[in-house]
Amino acid sequence: MLSLLLPTLLAVQALAVLEVQVPELPVVALYGMDTTLNCSFSHASPFNLSDLSVFWQLTDTKSSVHSYWASQDQLADQGERYANRTSLYPSQLGAGNTSLLLRGVRVADEGSYTCFVRVEAYGSAALLLQVAAPYSKPLVTLEPDSNLRPGDEVALTCVAYGGYPEADVLWQNGGGHNLTDNVTTSLVANEEGLFSMRSVLTVTLEPNSTYSCRLTNPLLGEDGHASVTITGQNMVFPPVALWLTVGLAVCLLGLLIALAAVCRRKIKESCEEDRAAMTPLKS
Ligand SMILES: *[C@@H]1O[C@H](CO)[C@@H](O)[C@H](O)[C@H]1NC(C)=O
Ligand SMILES: *[C@@H]1O[C@H](CO)[C@@H](O)[C@H](O)[C@H]1NC(C)=O
Ligand SMILES: *[C@@H]1O[C@H](CO)[C@@H](O)[C@H](O)[C@H]1NC(C)=O
Ligand SMILES: *[C@@H]1O[C@H](CO)[C@@H](O)[C@H](O)[C@H]1NC(C)=O
Ligand SMILES: *[C@@H]1O[C@H](CO)[C@@H](O)[C@H](O)[C@H]1NC(C)=O
Ligand SMILES: *[C@@H]1O[C@H](CO)[C@@H](O)[C@H](O)[C@H]1NC(C)=O
Ligand SMILES: *[C@@H]1O[C@H](CO)[C@@H](O)[C@H](O)[C@H]1NC(C)=O
Repeated sequence: MLSLLLPTLLAVQALAVLEVQVPELPVVALYGMDTTLNCSFSHASPFNLSDLSVFWQLTDTKSSVHSYWASQDQLADQGERYANRTSLYPSQLGAGNTSLLLRGVRVADEGSYTCFVRVEAYGSAALLLQVAAPYSKPLVTLEPDSNLRPGDEVALTCVAYGGYPEADVLWQNGGGHNLTDNVTTSLVANEEGLFSMRSVLTVTLEPNSTYSCRLTNPLLGEDGHASVTITGQNMVFPPVALWLTVGLAVCLLGLLIALAAVCRRKIKESCEEDRAAMTPLKS
């Protein structure tokens, strides 16, 4: 009796579960662009569309993002945030494609979405949506930026705007060494959730040195870098150094004159010696 029932039970159970597929890796969507949240199911036999139900929900809150049944969209209970921004692909539903098109992606859209599908059987799967926005090109400024003297302490400020998620900032000197001391970095989000980055590096000035600010968006890779080179030209030599230079120049000049005088005498002497040395050969 039992051995006859078992295969039937298994068959019923297999029918009751619908295999629903979504991307395993997080879907990265660009801020402000449209994105497709892939979801599909395989159904052995052709089915009547009126038997298909699709529910897209936020995994955490179960809040509705987009629903479909009785052959049409059902948006009465749709979350306000998603109004006019979602649609399925009606022509693809019959092929088991229940992907969701989300328009004008915002930072707040980030999170986990669950795709429920029912056609006789029932199944669901969740995917993660990540939002990315590239930062503006970083800009480095110097404070103060004039009358610089070697040994002065200056603040180098690097700024970049409108990115998401939080950027990694790296300061390097001309030799490519990482500068991690005396760096203060802050990120502030605007109403849309996009970050402004501001990083300040304090250094003691040396002539002819380069400092660069590298900014990386963890989701998009390197965004850009900017650098400043402090050459001797931006620097004013302090009076002590100036007098020292003038003094040295005068000394050098004196030395050269003395040397020239000595040389002249030496050349004259060596010529006379040559003549003296040649005399015995002649005789
Ligand atoms: C969605 O599915 C299509 C077809 O399988 C694939 O080409 C595309 O890369 C997928 N997109 C994402 C974001 O997974
Ligand atoms: C579903 O259809 C849309 C529109 O043709 C397509 O962009 C998407 O890649 C499809 N997704 C899957 C999983 O086939
Ligand atoms: C699909 O289902 C509806 C309602 O149950 C029915 O009226 C229609 O004839 C069906 N269509 C097909 C192709 O089976
Ligand atoms: C959605 O679109 C309809 C019709 O275009 C409009 O009346 C409604 O205000 C829109 N809703 C939102 C939240 O934009
Ligand atoms: C500098 O820091 C970056 C990121 O922390 C690291 O990948 C790199 O290896 C470091 N380079 C040096 C020369 O220490
Ligand atoms: C950091 O700043 C302090 C105080 O201004 C200074 O003594 C120190 O040398 C600085 N460190 C580096 C690596 O520049
Ligand atoms: C500045 O330093 C770079 C590399 O360290 C060197 O190539 C260049 O000649 C230097 N310039 C001056 C004016 O010292």
